[in-house]
Amino acid sequence: MKAALSSVMENQLQNNEFLRDVLEGLGGNRKTLPCKYLYDEVGSRLFEEICDSSDYYLTRNEADIFAIHLDKIAERIGPEALLIEPGAGNCEKVEALLAALDSPKGYYPIDISPEILLDAERRIKNGLPGMQVWSEVGDFTQAAVWDNLINIPSRKRVVFFPGSTIGNFEPLEAECLLELFASNLSPGDGLVIGTDLVKDSVTLERAYNDSDHITEKFNLNLLQRINVELGADFDLSLFAHRAFYHSLRQRVEMHLVCLKSHSVSIADTKIEFIEGETIHTENSHKYSIAGFNSLLTRSGFEPVCFWQDPAETYVIHYAQAI
Ligand code: AVJ
Repeated sequence: MKAALSSVMENQLQNNEFLRDVLEGLGGNRKTLPCKYLYDEVGSRLFEEICDSSDYYLTRNEADIFAIHLDKIAERIGPEALLIEPGAGNCEKVEALLAALDSPKGYYPIDISPEILLDAERRIKNGLPGMQVWSEVGDFTQAAVWDNLINIPSRKRVVFFPGSTIGNFEPLEAECLLELFASNLSPGDGLVIGTDLVKDSVTLERAYNDSDHITEKFNLNLLQRINVELGADFDLSLFAHRAFYHSLRQRVEMHLVCLKSHSVSIADTKIEFIEGETIHTENSHKYSIAGFNSLLTRSGFEPVCFWQDPAETYVIHYAQAI
């Protein structure tokens, strides 16, 4: 009974934060919504479908890099490493890497979802019997979530941040996040991080406008989530998915375009939408190798080496803390 009650309260607290972020994002002149809210259960499932789609080359090409260069990456990391993964998405990548490492100390996933962590722990322990796993529940952008690391002595710590997740952060935020990683590492500790390369806009725009319209569903699901969780009355047919490459900002922007002027109620607030205006829902920053090396350098890392897929669309960087 007590557990049930506290989980209801927890939900309400989370919803309050969600409501606050939504009202703040939609209250200004330029409407935005934080991209982290795209990943509810439906959104996470749609994102997995995106990863399997032929137009979204990122996941596939990153997997190729890990398949082709796994031994070199493992060798670079060296023996007895503790692998720390901020945002334990799917375990396949880390499982293969852990399996290739020389006597790894263990795996330390950090995620806001206890369910995802339990699942990750179960899968790693199944696939790699004897592997030690320390799960940490929390938002990896918050410094306090990293505090427990001191209780796990290890010869070497390596932060594993694949999936081009760093691209979701504005360059200045990305720098802060990498600084936070560096502050939890000792000199010589490692960072393995995946970034999507700057490339022609046709390829980029196709990846975010897949021909099966999964990205469109993924984007629109955010409004559905607001309807379900916050009791709003968004009419999804009055919004369209739009994703384009902004070459000056070196990022793909994802928006929801309002097709007809109307108003929407969220809780007790009415929000006016004008035809043609957009809700900006996500940024995916693209980096050149030199550009990302300079970001690493500004954040307390020394770029050491990198690996690419045969078509050179994507990069796995290895850097060390200084
Ligand atoms: C998971 C953030 C790397 O930005 O490419 C895919 C999310 N959005 N299609 C990305 C996403 C639309 C993805 N990341």
